[in-house]
Amino acid sequence: MIEFLLNRKKISTNVKSGENLLQFIREHEHLKGTKIGCREGDCGACTVLVGTLQNGKVDYKSVTSCLSSLAAVHGKHVVTVEGLNIENQLNKAQQAMHEHAATQCGFCTPGFVVSMTGTVLDSSSKHATTIDALSGNICRCTGYKSIEKAANQFDSEIGEAEHNLDWFIQHGFVPEYFSTVPKILEDMQTIVPYANNRAVAGGTDVYVREAGDLADLTINYLQVNNKIEITAEKIILGGGVTVTQLWDSPEMNKIFPKLRQHLQLISSKQIRNMATIAGNFVNASPIGDLSVFFLALNAELCLKSEANTERRLALRNFFLDYKKLDLQKNERIESIEFSIPSGAFFFNFEKVSKRQYLDIASVNSAMSFTIEKNIIKEAHVSLGGVAAVPKYLTKTSAFLVGKLADETTIAAATEIAQSEISPIDDLRGSQAYKRALASQLLLQHILVFKGEKF
Ligand SMILES: Cc1cc2nc3c(=O)[nH]c(=O)nc-3n(C[C@H](O)[C@H](O)[C@H](O)COP(=O)(O)OP(=O)(O)OC[C@H]3O[C@@H](n4cnc5c(N)ncnc54)[C@H](O)[C@@H]3O)c2cc1C
Ligand code: FES
Ligand code: FES
Repeated sequence: MIEFLLNRKKISTNVKSGENLLQFIREHEHLKGTKIGCREGDCGACTVLVGTLQNGKVDYKSVTSCLSSLAAVHGKHVVTVEGLNIENQLNKAQQAMHEHAATQCGFCTPGFVVSMTGTVLDSSSKHATTIDALSGNICRCTGYKSIEKAANQFDSEIGEAEHNLDWFIQHGFVPEYFSTVPKILEDMQTIVPYANNRAVAGGTDVYVREAGDLADLTINYLQVNNKIEITAEKIILGGGVTVTQLWDSPEMNKIFPKLRQHLQLISSKQIRNMATIAGNFVNASPIGDLSVFFLALNAELCLKSEANTERRLALRNFFLDYKKLDLQKNERIESIEFSIPSGAFFFNFEKVSKRQYLDIASVNSAMSFTIEKNIIKEAHVSLGGVAAVPKYLTKTSAFLVGKLADETTIAAATEIAQSEISPIDDLRGSQAYKRALASQLLLQHILVFKGEKF
């Protein structure tokens, strides 16, 4: 049985755990404020908040319910737009949207209200503005200026000071019943009692392709490691670590000062809240952003079998051919590991897509190197969208070692890179365009390097 709190109501249901959350909310519970738009995680009309009990407090993340399931919310608090209503008054997000005439047909509005309110309930929000929280919400008719004004008003009403839940309740951001939620969740069981029928992590790939088939299954969310561990030499990221966890990690942000700038190019807030690193690798898209990111860190995978035996493998050897992986049926990605760089270290990630945000790449690339007196000591370069797999550039990386980090070196490295890639014409661009992008992105890495102080 699946149990969760839906707004103010306790749900106990025998509906299959693979059932789509959006479907359940609308058809079983008749809460029609959560809209069906694209059913692919792109429009945000179906956004809900999912609250997880952590150390006596509930931390809420916005997710697209069209890509989520009942199993994913077992033991949690699901908040739809109806669950944000306050008796006889508009809540702050509704008020801001209303005052700035930020709604016309109103189809997208519940999603915007939910995402906006998410900023006051989400522990990651201190690193972002309300506009960032709306990165996965699309409006087809209002025009974004009025929505932006509403978001800015919402930010200014929060102000600079840090507030607790009581303050947000007293000031009309969320209804009063939120203060009772921790106790209710505490009393619920939180283990999903099902055999593994279909393995799902965040579900952002699986539910785009298979939502219909999964509805009749009991699914089990992969019980994989979702911790970030730091040793003296290494960062060990559990396979189940989400993009948002990377975003929040102080250690990752210390090593990669531009981390949030890079991660902002990946999907939207809602998808980043669900998407895992291992899911990105196993999806095996040639333009997988996390694959390209971690290839340039020369990352290593720890694979675990059902019998608990471990196998280690360089990420660059994991991708065999188009959607073919060195992964046995009974194996899971337990963790992704990379060495903490010593000395002067440079890392950069670049992505070119038709839209800057919430789009997949035409070509993406990452480069890392350590440097001493402007001489490159160790280098790793990756490119996506230019081969059947996310590509680690073995020869180019080797060539860079011992060279000056400048445009002349990159010009020579680019020639080698061109011999390592084999782009094809497709919807994301012609072969010639992708070759040109590959060269430009390698040059861009070095220009970014020169713009930074070492
Ligand atoms: C709207 C939208 C925008 C997106 N934008 C981007 C983008 O900008 N860049 C990008 O790279 N991707 C993007 N994606 C793709 C997707 O979000 C990522 O690939 C994500 O990282 C997948 O992770 P997941 O946990 O959701 O995978 P799931 O869908 O849960 O799983 C994918 C596959 O991986 C397997 N799997 C998951 N974890 C493990 C594990 N530990 N061991 C073994 N197998 C495992 C599952 O069984 C499944 O076969 C987008 C998707 C959507 C819907
Ligand atoms: S329906 Fe469009 S994101 Fe879910
Ligand atoms: S108001 Fe019509 S889609 Fe946004």
